[in-house]
Amino acid sequence: MGSRIVGTGRATPRTLLSNNDMRRLVDTSDEWIRTRTGIGTRFLIRSDESLVEIAAEASCRALERAGLKASALDAIVVGTVSSDYAFPSFACQLQHRMGLDLIPAFDVSAACSGFIYAVSVADSAMRAAEYSRVLVVGADALSTMLDWADRRTSVLFGDGAGAIVMVSEPGPSGVLGSLLRSSGQYWNLLSVKATGVRCTVDAEQRRAPGDAIQMRGPELFRIAVRCMEEVTRSVVERAGLQLEDVSLVIPHQANLRIINAVAERLGLSPDKVFTNVERYGNTSAASVPIALDEALEQNRIHAGDVLLLNACGGGLTWGANLVRW
Ligand code: UT7
Repeated sequence: MGSRIVGTGRATPRTLLSNNDMRRLVDTSDEWIRTRTGIGTRFLIRSDESLVEIAAEASCRALERAGLKASALDAIVVGTVSSDYAFPSFACQLQHRMGLDLIPAFDVSAACSGFIYAVSVADSAMRAAEYSRVLVVGADALSTMLDWADRRTSVLFGDGAGAIVMVSEPGPSGVLGSLLRSSGQYWNLLSVKATGVRCTVDAEQRRAPGDAIQMRGPELFRIAVRCMEEVTRSVVERAGLQLEDVSLVIPHQANLRIINAVAERLGLSPDKVFTNVERYGNTSAASVPIALDEALEQNRIHAGDVLLLNACGGGLTWGANLVRW
């Protein structure tokens, strides 16, 4: 028994900031941000908004597309590092917000790879026949963890949530395989101290620089390209397929230069790689499910297509899911 994705949804905060808007906050330029990252705009959460609420909106859309009621779900798995609380989990807050009770709800913490990890966890549990209808969410608001005086990080991130509904189903469609990897030796390439302070872009309160996102960008860039290439090749090979069999790659949207470098190493033509980093920036665990939902909306995915989802982020964590649509 495998698991199939039967509905997707996405939601974002209401405030969209362009690169020129960012110039009011840090010493930067539209030209620098576009050429170094491919980012043009990003949605940023404000102090009167709730990421749980945004995730619930994305989840309701995914359920609607799946033609299921929330009460049909039997588990919730959320890839996130942005819960307002150390506990309860983001997933428990989302469960309550959706009016659900008793079903297991838990978070998977793998930073930008959180959604890839969550899909793998959900798929494994479904293969073990424990659950048959699972809501999997990627939700993050890394903008609340920024030092707004640090131009090397503050222009990169955006906030949002993406959701999918997975159902267990026999047959050729569904998750063909996943591969998860971590390398704790690189933990300090990208990190944030837990401070319990949510510093939205409109908040008076600011994180002290040492408590904000710390990133060794250029080093991370080089390792991310290598990791994404390796995990993509390996997950395809393990499934007994060739890279040519992949119809569309939906990568984590951290930086267009990373996405292009990986595609080039893999010999993939640009039309086989979906990108939307220009509009959203790096939304961490939300980036892959948001991109998947947009790719469907743009008619880039058809029945029988083989999709490859991949990501790399803090931990270091990285991984891939291979899915037949
Ligand atoms: O999602 C998790 C995974 N995240 C990643 O994989 C991120 C990986 N890293 C990257 O995407 C890139 O390393 C960055 C986009 C973060 C940085 O790009 P870069 O080409 O590696 O630039 P850099 O850090 O080497 O900085 C080059 C120059 C520096 O100036 P100097 O020292 O050469 O004078 C920076 O101070 O660009 C300057 N700079 C900026 N200038 C204008 C850095 N940020 C900015 C900025 N605006 N926002």
